[in-house]
Amino acid sequence: MPQWQAQFIAHSRPCAEGDPAPYFRKSFTVEPDLVRATLYVTALGVVEPYVNGTRVGEDILAPGWTAYRERLGVNEYDVTPLLTDGPNALGAIVGEGWAVGRLMWSGANHHYADRPALFMQLELAYPGRTAVVPTEPSSAPTKATDWQVGVGGVRANGLYDGETFDARLEPPGWSRADFIPADWGPAIRYDWNLDSLELRVQPPIRRIEELPVAAITTSPTGYPILDFGQNLTGWIRLILDNPRRGQDITIRHAESLTPEGALERETNRTAKATDRYIAAGEPRETWEPRFTFHGFRYAEVEGWKPNRDAVRAVVIHSDMARHGWFECSNPLLNRFHANTVWSMRGNFVGLPTDCPQRDERLGWTGDLNAFIPTATYLYDVRGVVGSWLTDLMIEQTRVGNMPRSAPLVDQRPSQPTALWGDAIVNVPWQMFWEYGDVDVLRRCWRTMCSFVDEVATLLDDHDLWSTGFQYGDWCDPDAPPREPGRGKTDPYLVAQAFYARTTAQMTQIAGLLGESAAADRYAELDARVRAAFRREYVSERGIVKGETSTGYALALCFDLLDAGQRAYAGKRLNSLMAGRGYTISSGFAGTPFIADALMATGHLDGAYKLLLQTDCPSFLYPVTMGATTIWERWDAIQPDGWLYRTGMTSLNHYALGAVSDWIHRVVGGLAAAEPGWTRITVAPRPGGGLTHASTSHLTPLGLAAVSWALTGGEMTATVVVPAGATAAVRLPLHPEDLAVTVGPGEHTWAYAAQVQ
Ligand code: BGC
Repeated sequence: MPQWQAQFIAHSRPCAEGDPAPYFRKSFTVEPDLVRATLYVTALGVVEPYVNGTRVGEDILAPGWTAYRERLGVNEYDVTPLLTDGPNALGAIVGEGWAVGRLMWSGANHHYADRPALFMQLELAYPGRTAVVPTEPSSAPTKATDWQVGVGGVRANGLYDGETFDARLEPPGWSRADFIPADWGPAIRYDWNLDSLELRVQPPIRRIEELPVAAITTSPTGYPILDFGQNLTGWIRLILDNPRRGQDITIRHAESLTPEGALERETNRTAKATDRYIAAGEPRETWEPRFTFHGFRYAEVEGWKPNRDAVRAVVIHSDMARHGWFECSNPLLNRFHANTVWSMRGNFVGLPTDCPQRDERLGWTGDLNAFIPTATYLYDVRGVVGSWLTDLMIEQTRVGNMPRSAPLVDQRPSQPTALWGDAIVNVPWQMFWEYGDVDVLRRCWRTMCSFVDEVATLLDDHDLWSTGFQYGDWCDPDAPPREPGRGKTDPYLVAQAFYARTTAQMTQIAGLLGESAAADRYAELDARVRAAFRREYVSERGIVKGETSTGYALALCFDLLDAGQRAYAGKRLNSLMAGRGYTISSGFAGTPFIADALMATGHLDGAYKLLLQTDCPSFLYPVTMGATTIWERWDAIQPDGWLYRTGMTSLNHYALGAVSDWIHRVVGGLAAAEPGWTRITVAPRPGGGLTHASTSHLTPLGLAAVSWALTGGEMTATVVVPAGATAAVRLPLHPEDLAVTVGPGEHTWAYAAQVQ
């Protein structure tokens, strides 16, 4: 890390909602013998840096959102090619972003700072010496070589509400050396603890893809509506030919349309999600916002009638490497899987969030806990999740108990709650399984202990977690519409089951870390928690109290039943599901486990019926309704096409996409048998009339893949094992039930499938 000579600088006034974004600039001189120039940039807000009129780098919405008071990411750029001998200029626009703008539904802003503030340090390396151009307060009276602050085209900006840009007010060449800042003023020092600065560790947020418009329709009120054919996170780029000077264009974003063809904006809640562009009147103007983002598929345009070539959707998210793929013979299932991928993309914007469209976009712990096995399969999440875990631990230390989201906006301490709180153990555990690196467990160990130990103090005389707030089986479709926490399954049953899973993981983690006293302590706690679960919630025969699919699935998947009880519980679960025609009757807590529970108790057929059901609510119902992302509730849009007005109808929420993990492991048949994929399980279980499936995953050792196809009674299977790994292969429908272990390379089999 460089020695910081720079300070944060800002406008002299606090910023009010709807204020123009500050533009900062300064000129300086470069000597002829420059060897290398490195620019370090961050902001309280989101920053676009410039050198001599050129935008530096491709990172957007930098520095993303972290627990800023403790860790604020600094971007580093080699700007040598952008400099020339003699006069040069540095510039930056700083939007409100997460630090200054409003966050959460309460409408409160200024969570970290009362105005956007800039931090830049340019290091000019010459032979034998380094000159530094830091952000620092202007002298009075100000000179061109001082940092100065003005305003430009960005008239208003907010992550939730959108951006207004008036091209007539953009000072031409404002970040070039020859610009004369007539009405710009001094920048003042803005107090901020520089110990919080760290070089950015997580991948940057970038423009990843562009989509053309798929269709243009007309709203009932007569405005053009753009349909990009895909619910996505990002914004729209406009390309205007010969706009009128002052032409005022408004773009309102939404995830869906009403059956009448109007924008359905309810899913945005209070987020205005509206961009505005006022044209300068040039022959061609191209504009896109940069200080906001929207979750949308549709946009209504007022003040302009665009043709198809004049608009592009810009897809943004953290720039992560893709690690997992799946494809099969059922197009609806393929779309479901693609929807999972799109919801992951739409919600990994600097940190793992719940949704990209409404007044939240928070790093909710429970959502990631449900989704983490799918996330680690689909993308390399070491950077994004690793950074988020750091923030979770920081916030836990600060407020003294496990926050339900990180970074934390609402600073009040919260009671520990199952699935959300368990994330501090379950998420690092899954990261360890995926990447095989014990370090993540070591890093999180202290915080894991404090969560698990805190819950231990809350257990009653019967070793039950039976008091305090719980989300329960959040978003159970049978919960009252506006009370997603009031699902059918007893929330304390859910809590006890998750706590049992967590204490079992803690026992193993303690062992791995050589914490033998802790391992004994957690083993004893685990035994007590499990015994209490059985006493309170399971009948001798294996009936799980309340008889809900979530109750059965958790008891089965978290190993809370004995062998006899398992068989009975599996049968009950299957008949419960059959009784509902294999539609879904579980929420965030249970849904990821139902198919596994059915399969583990001999009801593979039931698991496929659940997977392939299309009636409402079911996994594939949203697909039949045209969904292109995973919905927060399976029934978010009702069969009549109207939104289910529950206040919780994000159409882009990855949590329930957690079921894709089952698709990878069971339909595709690829799973890690050991942390880091050194041993692999290949065990596809065809069903549901599927005739082929293939999946591949970039493990830490290289590509692993399985593909199988059933044609005219002949089964072919191909397995790819990376160097350094072995795979235990169990082939489906094999006449001799073949089970072999194979080493690295590609292996194929072909045989007459045994009909079951
Ligand atoms: C979010 C959820 C989250 C929950 C917990 C919701 O508003 O969107 O996904 O986990 O709140 O309070």
